[in-house]
Amino acid sequence: MNKEEAKLEIDQLSQQIEYHNRRYYVMSDPEISDYDFDMLLERLIKLEEEFPDLASPNSPTKRVGGDITKRFETVQHRFPMLSLSNTYSEEEVEDWYDRLVKMTNLELEFVCELKYDGVAIGISYENGELKQALTRGDGTQGENVTTNVKTIRTVPLRLHGDFPNDFEIRGEIFFPWDKFNELNRQREDIGEPTFANPRNTASGTLKLQDSSVVASRGLDCYLYGVYGVEQAEGHFESVLKAAEWGFKIPDPAKNMIKKVSSISEVMEFVHYWDDKRKQLPFEIDGIVIKVNSYAAQEQLGFTAKSPRWAIAYKFKTERVSTRLNSIDYQVGRTGAITPVANLEPVSLGGTVVKRASLHNADQIEKLELRIGDYVFVEKGGEIIPKIVGVDETQERGGKEVHFIHDCPECGTALVRNEGEAQHFCPNDTGCPPQIKGRIEHFISRKAMNIDGLGSETVDALFREGLVHDIADLYELHFDQLVKLERMGDKSANNLLQGVEESKNVPFARVLFALGIRFVGETVAKKLAKHFGSLNALMAASYEELLEVDEIGEKIANAIRSYFENPVQLALIDRLRGVGLQLESEKKEAASDVLNGASFVVSGVFSAFSRDEIKQLIEDNGGKNVSSVSAKTDYLLAGDKMGPAKLKKAEGLGVKIISEDDFIAMIKA
Ligand code: IVH
Repeated sequence: MNKEEAKLEIDQLSQQIEYHNRRYYVMSDPEISDYDFDMLLERLIKLEEEFPDLASPNSPTKRVGGDITKRFETVQHRFPMLSLSNTYSEEEVEDWYDRLVKMTNLELEFVCELKYDGVAIGISYENGELKQALTRGDGTQGENVTTNVKTIRTVPLRLHGDFPNDFEIRGEIFFPWDKFNELNRQREDIGEPTFANPRNTASGTLKLQDSSVVASRGLDCYLYGVYGVEQAEGHFESVLKAAEWGFKIPDPAKNMIKKVSSISEVMEFVHYWDDKRKQLPFEIDGIVIKVNSYAAQEQLGFTAKSPRWAIAYKFKTERVSTRLNSIDYQVGRTGAITPVANLEPVSLGGTVVKRASLHNADQIEKLELRIGDYVFVEKGGEIIPKIVGVDETQERGGKEVHFIHDCPECGTALVRNEGEAQHFCPNDTGCPPQIKGRIEHFISRKAMNIDGLGSETVDALFREGLVHDIADLYELHFDQLVKLERMGDKSANNLLQGVEESKNVPFARVLFALGIRFVGETVAKKLAKHFGSLNALMAASYEELLEVDEIGEKIANAIRSYFENPVQLALIDRLRGVGLQLESEKKEAASDVLNGASFVVSGVFSAFSRDEIKQLIEDNGGKNVSSVSAKTDYLLAGDKMGPAKLKKAEGLGVKIISEDDFIAMIKA
């Protein structure tokens, strides 16, 4: 294929992919299957690899991320990013409404919208291409988070229709509940503290350095204002126009945005959503009411901080005041300490609340809590309610709360790593909740899935000194078990059978079950596939670990330090001894002629696709690595591969072979 043909195909594919992306994410009305979509994307990725200079900065391939931002530069906003004046009082909304009608002496129309609970973003487009995305920052200057914003599927990279040539659009980036809960489940899997709420997590995600992580998290975005052009009559009309250019806007048919001309309609909208907001797939914290006509907006103007033509009505969050009786410090399986408040039981949003999360030491310090204080408790979307402040109208408590210095379970001095909010107990081999937590993780459904063994039994086994680590599970006998309280013959047999059956659990799940920090289900699968065996993984250097898809420095470090720990090595020896699956099930290898040699495959081939070649390498005992290093044995160079890779290989003395050479090698 020559360059001109490639350009044509890249253009066509990009348009097709963006069209289907919009059908799927913006309109929720896909026309093609996920598989067909992936095929189009794969083809585009391939073409862009072959013709790197044809890859545009707004190619749909940017959606998957991969670019790293080391430092987010600060950029001046073209128009200051103001905030809204807000109120919790319906009366104040009515006063505001009356005031505006009087000031303008006009029959005003208003637009009611949801107040999304996320992070404000300003995105500028030039000639229909996304140019830049800035956070609010201090309102005058924001941070350039363009690379990360490009991964958000509902943000168009290129516009269509009759868009203005140069404008900015503002909106809110937020974490939908399902994605947020999924992320927290994954964090629980790896023993990491969960995130408190979607808003802060959206904000943190937007500032991650690695855009592929941002891409994987599933942020979403609604647009709420067009700036720099006034081609429409009013705000409502311009929002509808933005939809024609490809933006995701709130659906008028679902009453998510409404143009009204009376205060009673405004209130109707407010009440409707106060009632229905729990059914939305994302968090809102109020309603925004805006004057529709741009002319009237101009007439009304701004105060120092906010426009006079808009107001936010904030929903009252359910909040009660109750007595703080004491604080417990829970120790997780990774040693992370979570403070939990014990409260005088109080009814909140239909349930009785006795405990509330306090997250970490910083939060306790900020609240300046004392035992006996009355504290305000709120229920957000989270499962566990949180303490948001001290009720100063009540008498203050006595003893000031200071975060503990030593582990409440084993007495070891706690540590706090730089830049982390959480305290840890470093006594991983001697601290009971860590030991039990690791065993519970090991037996859990997604890990070894050992039937007949629950957390109470783990507790009993630990108490009786029968189990101190995961390998001990494989040394249990029937007569030890039946002596345990509430353990009959049948349960004991069940347990032993469950333990026995776990010896067939495939390697990827065994790896996950080990509970290595940051190695969740997905990472374990990737590692198992890449290395094929625990031995190979243990032998992998830090650099080799980084070559695996999606493995970054943090995970690589955690893996290395796990396998450098003599305690873990001894444990692994015992697990190996009892016959756990420590290798991926092998397909019958075609041969082992490649004898462990490492290959970088690049360019296009004629007899095989690149994936087929990679498979052939593995089937014949070789391994694939993604970038050329001094340790690479062969660079398998196809047509049209990048000159940089070739040069690097030459420089490092890596053998460069052709497709024909390769075929000859495996035929040998
Ligand atoms: S309009 C001049 N509309 O609420 C300000 N803001 O203080 C124009 N927000 O951080 C903002 N939903 O990001 C507007 N439908 C909506 C909104 C909304 C959420 C956020 C906004 C800002 C804060 C207002």
